[in-house]
Amino acid sequence: MCGIVGINSKNEFYVRDAIKRLKRLEYRGYDSFGYAYGSSLYKKTGHIVVPSSDDKTKRIIAHSRWATHGGVTDANAHPHVYENVTLVHNGIIENYQELKDLYLRKGHKFLGETDSEVAAHYFAEKLKEKDMINACSDFIHDIKGEFAILVLVKGDQNIYALRRDSPLVLGVGTDMNFLGSDIYAFSDATNMAIFFENDEFAVVGNDSFQFYDKHGKKISKEVQTFRWEQEESMLQNYDHYMIKEIMEQPKVVKRLLFSLDTEQKEKFHEFTAEMKKAKKIIFVGAGTSYHASLLGVYYLHRCGKAAQTIIASEFEHFIDVDEDSLVIALSQSGETMDVIEALKYAKARGARIASIVNVPYSTVQRMSVISLNILAGQEVCVAATKSFTNQVALMLALAKEFGYKVNMESLPQQIQSVLERSGSVKDMAMGLKDNEHLYVLGRGLSYPVAREIALKIKEISYIHAEGMMGGELKHGTIALIEKGTPVIGLVSGKDNAMLSNLKEVGARGANVITISNEAAGDIRLETSNDGKFGILASIIGQLLAYHIANAKGLPIDKPRNLAKSVTVK
Ligand code: F6R
Repeated sequence: MCGIVGINSKNEFYVRDAIKRLKRLEYRGYDSFGYAYGSSLYKKTGHIVVPSSDDKTKRIIAHSRWATHGGVTDANAHPHVYENVTLVHNGIIENYQELKDLYLRKGHKFLGETDSEVAAHYFAEKLKEKDMINACSDFIHDIKGEFAILVLVKGDQNIYALRRDSPLVLGVGTDMNFLGSDIYAFSDATNMAIFFENDEFAVVGNDSFQFYDKHGKKISKEVQTFRWEQEESMLQNYDHYMIKEIMEQPKVVKRLLFSLDTEQKEKFHEFTAEMKKAKKIIFVGAGTSYHASLLGVYYLHRCGKAAQTIIASEFEHFIDVDEDSLVIALSQSGETMDVIEALKYAKARGARIASIVNVPYSTVQRMSVISLNILAGQEVCVAATKSFTNQVALMLALAKEFGYKVNMESLPQQIQSVLERSGSVKDMAMGLKDNEHLYVLGRGLSYPVAREIALKIKEISYIHAEGMMGGELKHGTIALIEKGTPVIGLVSGKDNAMLSNLKEVGARGANVITISNEAAGDIRLETSNDGKFGILASIIGQLLAYHIANAKGLPIDKPRNLAKSVTVK
């Protein structure tokens, strides 16, 4: 987590414009923020505030924090300064205590409790004996853990940038270079980028740059040209990014489906060919992306294609992978640490790696032999909405190649019809907002959807919600059902077992809300296809979570304690 930005320019730019770039990365962490330019240093807890001053500079580094080591305080916010070194860091320095003890013995003073502060001391010490190129190469050898680091050294015109396991990319502009945790930091200014691989570092000037390997040997790297849908990163007339992104779903699904017939057509066929060839298909993902992968497994299973999915953080404990396995990662950001670790594990055992991502050139995509883009555009709200829908739409399109029957062309219009029912979902939200607990039940296809709806309600509306298999209810959870407990039941087709489960909780006083297509229900979705039922029902869940959170006045786009890109284990 944490977002970092650096700019080195031939000409002066407004500091406030640089901080607006940092704000584009705020979804990566928003406990505190800070920046340093010239002799100025500013750091503060809370959400990023763009300064109103007309201050200009040619060089700046900035940071948006998601606390790991050390509380949320001004002192723990980045940049960290020691003697002639100022730096920002994303990642975790695992051997920081050992280094800190060493520097304390030497008489250094520390201002906060973070692991990152130690890095400033490290460089300051090294610079007493050697130049920055050698100091960077030593850092890569000596430091255990993960880092994307930007360093300024007093009297030096460069920004030094180092990476291991935390994302870092260089944006190549005209008379200026950008550094960022991802391309959003500069995607409005340039579409040319170079992605840092592990244990590489670069010296970035205002119109030149040089990359080095961990031994300090110069390396040349290719500049990539990326495509990005920029128009969608503004709030426009919406109150929150979440509702804007929910409303964009018909458009982004249409864009994805169009791409599968045009620019991604060839890759799509190669991807299916990989799946057909593989003896074992194993998906991996975290959170919402895991739920999308569970739906994928369901769709494939329906047409006789065996597949499994494992939550990324538990991957190595629950599955054997080998040369016969195709491991398919699902990840919006393409930077989730648990997913990357699972892929490393799979790769080391000879598996082929494929992926489905939203952010192009992300680490997960770069680790894959083949990768498809979901083309959802930038998702600013921490909670995944449109990226989930496009992941599932892509899963449906893949399953269709294996014989799953579904009319994809009508999906955008069906989503539009669901969105037009936002008013009635809002009425339902008013009836639910004061509850402390809520249950969402599903079976088969609707089980992953139940989990996804519960996750949205938890993270955005701060209601404890449990999404579970209807069949499991009687094995314990039913003990929690009392008079008035809300239970949302997802009934796809004539799911009599699910209807019985709802009767069982109803008989114990639960306030049952049914989302169905064929059976009678409080919300009836117009589709007879179970695959599309999954997407449409989850959109009802997105709207419900949004309206509950809005009614409670919660920070919808940046819920407490969360960050969009989870780049720590
Ligand atoms: C929930 C949510 C998270 C992410 C999870 C994985 O709304 O957004 O659960 O789905 O952190 O992130 P990605 O897809 O970027 O790997």
